[in-house]
Amino acid sequence: MSIKPATASTAPSTHDGRHVDTLATVHQDAERELPALPPDPVMEAHGLNVFYGDFHAVHDVNLSFGRNEITALIGPSGCGKSTVLRCLNRMNDLVTGARVEGEVTYHGQNIYARGVDPIAVRTHIGMVFQKPNPFPKSIYDNIAYGPRVTGMKVDSMDDLVEEALRGAALWDEVKDKLKQSAYGLSGGQQQRLCIARTIATRPDVILMDEPCSALDPIATSRIEDLMMELRSDYTIIIVTHNMQQAARVSDRTAFFTARPDETTGNRTGLLVEFDQTTRIFANPSDKRTEDYISGRFG
Ligand SMILES: Nc1ncnc2c1ncn2[C@@H]1O[C@H](COP(=O)(O)OP(=O)(O)O)[C@@H](O)[C@H]1O
Ligand SMILES: [Mg+2]
Repeated sequence: MSIKPATASTAPSTHDGRHVDTLATVHQDAERELPALPPDPVMEAHGLNVFYGDFHAVHDVNLSFGRNEITALIGPSGCGKSTVLRCLNRMNDLVTGARVEGEVTYHGQNIYARGVDPIAVRTHIGMVFQKPNPFPKSIYDNIAYGPRVTGMKVDSMDDLVEEALRGAALWDEVKDKLKQSAYGLSGGQQQRLCIARTIATRPDVILMDEPCSALDPIATSRIEDLMMELRSDYTIIIVTHNMQQAARVSDRTAFFTARPDETTGNRTGLLVEFDQTTRIFANPSDKRTEDYISGRFG
């Protein structure tokens, strides 16, 4: 079992300042004192192993994702963060040669069980990718597409489009050109459009794979604020390269690393530590986590 439960009595007060030089302030929201593990997890991974052909990419991951929490997945490049994230809404089904073992539960139901429709899974568990992937449609129709195809009850599509675009900090830039192609937007704007598109269908869980890597610092900050707003309605799981971002926005952090196989040298990803973000950054229990977050590795 890779999950290391924290002891509730040692929550944020253990911050000893060791990492203040390398990390932004961990958000210390006194009203969000968290239990050691999510008491009411929306999703859980049990014994998750992922293979690409013969390559064992991710080894035995156990995680739980709390309702109305933001969970960050961090770790060096290639440790399997995106692979794990894609397992959470069956996006790996679309990757040739990928094979998933173990269970991922959503409200207690294994999304890999026979008879589960992966498309239905993805309407509940939406995803924002690292590279923006707008549809070849107008800005308006990018947002309206999901609500339309899923038959969502919408009082005013115009209002929904505006709300989603405002939420993704894009409205002011596009309000006068909603009928123009999304391809005319800059990369950063396209990514915010994709975030708006995901929000528009009101999923239960939002998966984000380095969603801000194409955004400038101002847009990034707006998206981070947005994530914290969205947290009251959604469960958010974010892969981020940016430790300051994990520290700023997340409630819990899962740190992954990759271990080379002694014979093949192939690097298999594994979960090192999962805990409250305050503890991961102030007082991690594993030396590998401490080395990574203090910049000695990765
Ligand atoms: N489609 C794929 N086919 C083969 N190997 C893959 C594929 N996607 C990822 N991998 C490999 O799986 C490992 C984990 O990758 P990934 O999940 O992308 O890591 P991270 O997101 O942490 O950088 C890496 O060794 C990567 O090369
Ligand atoms: Mg990745």
